[in-house]
Formats: sequence, C-alpha cells, structure tokens
Amino acid sequence: MEGAFPQWSGDVIIFYAFQDEEAPLSGFARWMPSQAPWLQDGPVLKDFRAKKAELHLVYAPADAAVSRLLLVGLGKRKDWSLENFRHATAMAVRRCRDLALERALLPTAAMEGLPEREETLVREALTAAALGLYRYDALKTRDVETSDCPKELTVCSEGPLPYWPRITDEVKAVCEGIVLARDLATAPANVLTPSFMAQTAAGVASRHGMRFDVLDLDRAKELGMGGFVAVAQGSQEPARFIIMEHCPEGLKDQAPFVLVGKGITFDTGGISIKPAAKMEEMKHDMAGAATVLGTMEAIGRLSVPRRVIALMPCTENMPDGRAYKPGDVVKTHSGLTVEVISTDAEGRMILCDALSYAMQFQPAAMVDLATLTGACVIALGDRVAGLLGNHEDLMQVMQKIGAPLGELFWPLPLYDFYFEDLKSDVADFKNVGDRKAGTIIGAMFLKQFVPDTVPWAHVDIAGTVWADKDLGWIPKGATGFGVRTLVSLVQSWNVTKGA
Ligand code: BES
Ligand code: MN
Ligand code: ZN
Repeated sequence: MEGAFPQWSGDVIIFYAFQDEEAPLSGFARWMPSQAPWLQDGPVLKDFRAKKAELHLVYAPADAAVSRLLLVGLGKRKDWSLENFRHATAMAVRRCRDLALERALLPTAAMEGLPEREETLVREALTAAALGLYRYDALKTRDVETSDCPKELTVCSEGPLPYWPRITDEVKAVCEGIVLARDLATAPANVLTPSFMAQTAAGVASRHGMRFDVLDLDRAKELGMGGFVAVAQGSQEPARFIIMEHCPEGLKDQAPFVLVGKGITFDTGGISIKPAAKMEEMKHDMAGAATVLGTMEAIGRLSVPRRVIALMPCTENMPDGRAYKPGDVVKTHSGLTVEVISTDAEGRMILCDALSYAMQFQPAAMVDLATLTGACVIALGDRVAGLLGNHEDLMQVMQKIGAPLGELFWPLPLYDFYFEDLKSDVADFKNVGDRKAGTIIGAMFLKQFVPDTVPWAHVDIAGTVWADKDLGWIPKGATGFGVRTLVSLVQSWNVTKGA
C-alpha cells in the first residue's frame, strides 16, 4: 500500500481490460493522463484486444517511474467470472516471472469498474498470483528454473484499505495450507510415507498448539480397526492413523467439526493389482489427507474460533504375502463385517474405520475427502468433485462456498436401493458392487458407518486433486483442491445445527 499515483515505483504495473470495449476501465482512464500520457493517442491500446488471459506488455519512455505496463485481458464483460479474473491474474504474474521482473504493482484502480467488490478482487488476485506461481522443484538437482520473480506484488491504492490486514492474513494462511497440500500430494511415495505424513502433521500441530496423536498398527488392532489393519498389513512401510485437534481456549465442550482424509500413500491395488500404465499417479492417493492437513495448517494460522478434529488414516496398499485378499471378511471398528471383493477398493476400508472412530467426538458435522473412485473422474472430469452425503443443507453450503473460490462440487444421489449392490452372502456387506455407479456405491459403503443424525458429506476428489495440464490459474500437477472450501466451511457452519 502506498500513496497517490506519482509515488509508485516498480518494474511493472498491471491493469485489466475487457474485450471489445471502447473506453478503458475507469481506474485506468484516471491513471493514464497523468502517468502515461504517451499511451493516449498512440496505437498501443488499439493493438490490444483484451481477450481472455491475453497479455500486452508495453514499455514506457525512459523517464517514466514504472518502466513497463502489463495489460491483462479479461475477455468479454458478459463472460465475467472470478475464475477468469484469477486466470488472467495468474498469467500476468507468470509473465513477470518469465521476464524476471522483481517488483510488480497492482493498483486497486485497475479493479475499478469490475463487477465485484474490491476486497474480493484484491483477495482473489493475491491468491491467484501466489498459487499460480506454484511449482515443485524440491527433488531437482539440475536445470532448475531459478527465477523466483516477482519477489513482490504490491497492491497500491490512493487511500487506506480497511480490509487489508484481514485479507492478507487470510490469503497467507490459505495459500500456505494449499502449498502444503500440493507439496504432499506431489511428493513421491518413497519420500512421502505414512511416517512422513505423521511427522509433517506433528509439525503443524506443534506450530499451532494443536493436540496430536498417532496410532500405529498395533494400537489400531487393539481398537478393532479391522479395515485399516487389513489394508496396512500388506505393507512394509509402518502405517499411521493421525489424529489432530484444534481446540481454541474455552471450546473443549463444543461439538467439533470433523475432517477425514484418505491417506493411501501409494495404491498398487494390492492383490487386485492395478495395470502398470499410469500407476505412478497413485502416489497422490493420499491427497484427501493432504487436503485435511493443509486445511489444519490454515485453520491454525488463522486461529479459527472453532473446534476442529482431523483424522488421517495413512498406509500403503501393497500386494504381499501378508496382504489382505479378495474373499477375506474383515471386522471393522464399528463392528460391521465387510467381505473384500476388491483389495483395490482400499480407500473405503480405511475411511470406514475413521468415520466410526469419529463418533466418540459427537461431531457437529463431518466431511471426508478421498480420491476414492476412477468412476468419478469419468463422470465429472478433473474440475468438479463428486459430492454425496446425508444432509442437503451441508452439501448446498459446500457448493455455495466453493463455487466463487474456484472449487466446484456436484451432487450425486444416495438412494437406499443402491445398497442392494453391496449385499454379501457371508458378511454384512461387500466392499464393491459391480461396475455400475462406482462413485455412488463407494459413498453408499461409507454411509453405513455414519448415523443419520450426524450431518456428513463425502467428497470424491479423484479427478480434482491432480491436473494433467495447466487449468487456468491452477498449474499442472497437484491442485490442493478443497482447502479453500473447507477453511471457509468450518468457519461458517453453525455449531448448533448439527446437535
Ligand atoms: N485410488 C483409487 C481411485 C482413483 C483412480 C483415484 C484414479 C484417482 C485416479 C481407488 O483406490 C480405486 O482403486 N478405486 C477403484 C474402485 C473399484 C475397485 C470399485 C476404481 O476406481 O477402480
Ligand atoms: Mn485402489
Ligand atoms: Zn486408492
């Protein structure tokens, strides 16, 4: 934040524009006469169409305070969306990175005349800039891209911004959470083991004064977590069931919001082994747990005044002499028995124990996130998560919160008759149906472990946590999908509703 127009200095100043509009946006029109009069009658502006995410870099005369102007297209006004705005902003800062420009200026004047509140625009611009520049190079030793530009993105305004402290804290906290979630999902399975997840979670907990507990395989056995144990017993890598509690002063009797994340650090399919092609992608089968841990990081940084419990069952799913087998019958933590048809439906086997373990905390609401089914990727693709549950209101709130933040959730039904596909001759039910309605059947399985009295949503993030190519402002790779919505959801969910 700085003073009036003339005092700003930096390597580049950013302004937005709509496509095919005669007049520039009002803030730019105000800025130009005094700051860049040379722009007014020349061809520079005429040559810029301002198509969606189109960039136009203009060099100022030698005596100008800011030597570059970066014009950023927003597309047509009628197609306006925050998602396009984030995309345009991310493209702008990526151009700054390519050009190794250290100090970029984003004047609030650039947002005048956009159809959204300035506070929201500044928040979304900062978020898109920070996350749009994300990359993972922890394991590279050569040909590393060294530019960490722009080093600063300065939001400049002509007057004080009352919302500034609030949004910078929020943006920093949420971006740190998302970066953590992305780093974890990207890390390979020989680095990111269940123990590594537990160490990382312990770090988050100790930084923010959260309760932290971790159950090993023996303890899980004692607790009767037969589903989790069945999956974990086939792996040489020690399993970890991670428990965290964020409990601000005076809230220890508040019904908690419970978050559950699938933490399969590598999914080979087990004895029902997966085909070799693309199996490396199954390193991100712990993205649900990563999202939950990233959310806890943000919640801790923000000191959210709400009791939140996180459960992250973490293990590999491997074929082995001791691995669980198709046909095995497993007694879960709830006491219900499950006939294993596919060892590749391991996510639900570990989640069901986490969901029933959560009941001792009498949750106000519970959300689980899991890369549960390939069927969800087929149905909804990689930009929309599957949303299922027992509570319309919770699901609608999640959709409403997520959409403007760039996280889309789409509901699928959970009619009782879907259970027929899970009927078993030897146990209470099976862990898979036939091939029909795979995402729904997965959720139907989980539903058996959640009483109707607990508002619960299951989010299938199999498609959304990984981008095969850049998706607008989201760089290719791990997306951190879900963190933004969860952070906002735990803050806004009415505690008494779930009681
Ligand atoms: N982790 C996979 C689901 C998955 C697939 C996530 C592709 C991300 C991308 C899960 O454990 C799995 O294997 N699901 C099975 C379920 C089936 C056995 C009912 C699947 O989708 O094939
Ligand atoms: Mn699997
Ligand atoms: Zn899996």
